[in-house]
Amino acid sequence: MASEPVDGVDVPWEEARRANLANWEDRVPLHVEAYHTAALRNDPDHLSSVVRTDLEALLPHMPGKSLRGVDLCHLQCHIGTDTVSLARAGARVTGIDFSPAALDAAATLAADCGVTADWIQTDVLDARAAVDRHLGTTRQFDVVYTSIGTIGWLNDLDLWAGQVASLLNPGGVFYLRDGHPMLGTLDEFAPNLSVRYRYFGGGRALQWDEAGTYVGDGTVEHTRTYEWPHPVSEVVTVLLRQGLELVALDEGKTLPWQFSPRMSPVTAEPDSDFAWPAAERDLVPCTFTVIARRP
Ligand SMILES: C[S@@+](CC[C@H](N)C(=O)[O-])C[C@H]1O[C@@H](n2cnc3c(N)ncnc32)[C@H](O)[C@@H]1O
Repeated sequence: MASEPVDGVDVPWEEARRANLANWEDRVPLHVEAYHTAALRNDPDHLSSVVRTDLEALLPHMPGKSLRGVDLCHLQCHIGTDTVSLARAGARVTGIDFSPAALDAAATLAADCGVTADWIQTDVLDARAAVDRHLGTTRQFDVVYTSIGTIGWLNDLDLWAGQVASLLNPGGVFYLRDGHPMLGTLDEFAPNLSVRYRYFGGGRALQWDEAGTYVGDGTVEHTRTYEWPHPVSEVVTVLLRQGLELVALDEGKTLPWQFSPRMSPVTAEPDSDFAWPAAERDLVPCTFTVIARRP
């Protein structure tokens, strides 16, 4: 059972970032075990389920409906399962994350899969400066991609959107899919759909102390994390403020992790998405997707 979070915490970003980083460093060995990396290693055509879903939404907006030859920057790439999958779909990939352990795991996975990638360790809110240092000040990307479990770790989406815009080539495409902020309001352990947490953010964090992670098995030493709710309107607004043009906005009824014990896999595949019981699937969105273009 999850502990009660402390809501409405006004924590300095540096303190929150330090706590979140220590927690993510601890999660890496657990996630290397739990994610489906064997399938990626053993089958050169395998793509992560996240990327399989994302490509359906993204490719219609790419020239030639393909990632072939596309220069792609993956923000908050974690242990690289999706980065490797995007490379297999044809992209030249750069993975960015603040966790050295995650990037080590990602680099090992990529090498095992014969995938070439650049890996950059930085706070995503400082991504442009880090790309300047590693790849040069003129380097921009055709696609900036971030997916499933990313923006909730960030306090300042205006700053984040500025990084996204500065990483994109003119004409470049930004792609985001994440857990829907409405889903994030629900009590995952309630016997029905029951709102427990804030939908609106207001810059105040939820402070969690949990030893477990969403993969189920194993515990972490650094249990304290800070997360920020971001309503859909905020996400779209910060991107528009940077001059990006909204190309697509979608909402999904399944998601790639078991948010609640009442959710079931939708297929028999080991990396299946999860959904609410059939009678509840139309009641609440599970994910949202934003695609935007830099003019
Ligand atoms: C849930 S993963 C998202 C990636 C992908 N969906 C996956 O599961 O492989 C979240 C990632 O965000 C990273 N992260 C969290 N806060 C960050 C920050 N401020 N700057 C850069 N990376 C951050 C963590 O290290 C972690 O790798």
